[in-house]
Amino acid sequence: MPAVKTTYLCQQCGAASPKWAGQCPSCSAWNSLVETVAAPRAVARPRSAVQAVAGAAAISPIGEIESAEASRLESGIGEVDRVLGGGFVPGSITLFGGDPGIGKSTLLLQLAGRLAPRAPVLYITGEESAAQVRGRAERIGAVVDGLNLAATTDLETALGAIESLRPALAVVDSVQTLTSGDLAGPAGSVGQVREVASRLAEAAKLSGTCVALVGHVTKEGTVAGPRTLEHLVDAVIYLEGERLGSTRLLRAAKNRFGSTDEVGVLEMRGDGLAEVSDASRFFLESDETPTAGSAVTIALEGTRPLAVEIQALSATAGYGSPRRATTGVDTNRVLMLIAVLARHAGLNLTSHDVYVNVAGGLRIDEPAADLAIATAMASSLRDRPVRPATVLAGEVALSGRLRAAVRAERRLLEASRLGFDRLITGAARGAAPDQGRGLVVARDIREALGIALED
Ligand code: TYD
Ligand code: MG
Repeated sequence: MPAVKTTYLCQQCGAASPKWAGQCPSCSAWNSLVETVAAPRAVARPRSAVQAVAGAAAISPIGEIESAEASRLESGIGEVDRVLGGGFVPGSITLFGGDPGIGKSTLLLQLAGRLAPRAPVLYITGEESAAQVRGRAERIGAVVDGLNLAATTDLETALGAIESLRPALAVVDSVQTLTSGDLAGPAGSVGQVREVASRLAEAAKLSGTCVALVGHVTKEGTVAGPRTLEHLVDAVIYLEGERLGSTRLLRAAKNRFGSTDEVGVLEMRGDGLAEVSDASRFFLESDETPTAGSAVTIALEGTRPLAVEIQALSATAGYGSPRRATTGVDTNRVLMLIAVLARHAGLNLTSHDVYVNVAGGLRIDEPAADLAIATAMASSLRDRPVRPATVLAGEVALSGRLRAAVRAERRLLEASRLGFDRLITGAARGAAPDQGRGLVVARDIREALGIALED
């Protein structure tokens, strides 16, 4: 067997060089060379005619191939399964990313504990000692039969453990702590992280084990961030939330086996992460009478409608250009809505500081949130609450026209379940407005504000 050879691959142009340099000799990009193992397995493979025929045996009619969907491994935590698309697919590798301290280890240990009585689970910890993991397991009720721990930071040892135990699920916590002896780079370096992920992916495919890989990564992507790993894994799930708040959201950024629209809602408690049973109500700040500067929309996150409160505050600005700060919504969208309000609804916020916030730490990107954002700002400026039991969903055009929210009926249904009487929206293009039964159709932003703020 040939010796393992390391080369340095440029992340920009793909050129290989035998030694590391700060600048790529080919394309002159800085800091783009990454240590990589030239896989001896591929090089060593003999390529005779017989083998070429044997290779052809892998061709099968699609109808005869067993679908991986059929044998999904349900995690036992509904919110996780929802985001995965129904559970883990055997032989797949899923990256669970998120900021340090957000709860990744807690979530995966909990998941391991739920699953273990049904199917063997191996939890490989490189970050904490086995004793520390046991301590946490006691707190969250994960000391169960079928759950095995292995404490190691060596990739080859970890792979050996998976190989010998052949668990249904292997949790690897975390990708940043494992190192391969084949590479010289330190744990957490781009080369090591890529090697760890690709070798684990290979092991998953060979043994049929589901691998859940923990990674301390933020969406912005640090050195060993998702850009490095995304193409090596089958799914990337982010655990998000404000560090001090207790709400945690699970979102898929990539999923080869499901949609990336679903969100899972969890709450961090003293005994681990709990599923939020009535997620829709969860993002409503209060059941009290509406206050000025607040508007409720029904957002459609994936197939799940969520009632979400949008809060706005406008205050007379001091000197200089006024401040516009947002959390949970796109700032450019808010700037656009401020301009539309000025031009088409006679509401001038140009000399006001404007703050917009989505309650509960949720992030909403769909255009149907426009109307609620605009209404919350108008409500704050005029110091007039939105009329009780009213939700809003519709896209605001630059012309001030209002477009219907997609699946308005579905949203209305959810709204009425939560005790709201009317949904203000726009007219669907080309369709006659379907007024009545709580659906209120407004032509433009001025008319919608007239109804929502009762003037
Ligand atoms: P952890 O899972 O260690 O985060 P990560 O692996 O993403 O770095 O969780 C860290 C925080 O979660 C820690 O500050 C304490 C809190 N926590 C709870 O509130 N309740 C619990 O039951 C557990 C286990 C942790
Ligand atoms: Mg951890």
